[in-house]
Amino acid sequence: MKHIAVAVDGPAGAGKSSVSKAVAADLGLVYIDTGAMYRSVALFAIQNGIDIKNDPQSLIDRLDEIDIGIKHGEEGQIIYLNGVDVTGKIRTPQVSVGASDAAVIKEVRQKLVAMQRKMAENDSVIMDGRDICGYVLPNADVKIFLTASVDARSQRRYKELREKGETCDFEKIKADIEYRDYNDSTREESPLKRVSDAVPVDTSDLTFNESVALVKRIIEEKTGKADTSGVRNEKQ
Ligand code: DC
Repeated sequence: MKHIAVAVDGPAGAGKSSVSKAVAADLGLVYIDTGAMYRSVALFAIQNGIDIKNDPQSLIDRLDEIDIGIKHGEEGQIIYLNGVDVTGKIRTPQVSVGASDAAVIKEVRQKLVAMQRKMAENDSVIMDGRDICGYVLPNADVKIFLTASVDARSQRRYKELREKGETCDFEKIKADIEYRDYNDSTREESPLKRVSDAVPVDTSDLTFNESVALVKRIIEEKTGKADTSGVRNEKQ
């Protein structure tokens, strides 16, 4: 396949990561979860007792101490914070809120966006986040805005956490998602919004397999190159 870049944006819990990961595996693209990078910065802050929201300067002052590494294994992206595998540690509700707070900081974004652009130069990627279509990869071959209703997204997060054996409260998850939606879409730096050339995909009423098939079809239509032989279980 020629070098391509697929950009996927959307709100928290819309299924961006799981859908993009499956599409990457089927089409031979490298999957890059940029949210995990913001989460790693938040984890660094938490581990070092930094209050991101009330004292962002302390985080800015220590940005040079944060080294984020990404490897691509069988299971998808493995993320390293200063050499330590933190893939399993960055999915807690505390890190989720911290990541949203870290993501409003201009200096944090500058550091991570530079890394993300380099990754897309080196490999054919499907990259998901909030600002990928409009800012990180404005010349991406394919742009998708993946979304779902707040209720559908909260249900999915709830199920995901329960399956991992974590105790969680649905109303708290929903409130966190609403907080992050508000934070992510009203911040000054690269707020979450659908750019006009991004194809909207609402997954509220789609199964996971249907969402994957739809995204693959969009990529194929836009690039004419993607191999969609593995299309799963389509509705229509
Ligand atoms: O996709 P996620 O839930 O793992 O992202 C965690 C937070 O990071 C989210 O609240 C918004 C922020 N983020 C961002 O601002 N820009 C990105 N490209 C990716 C994530």
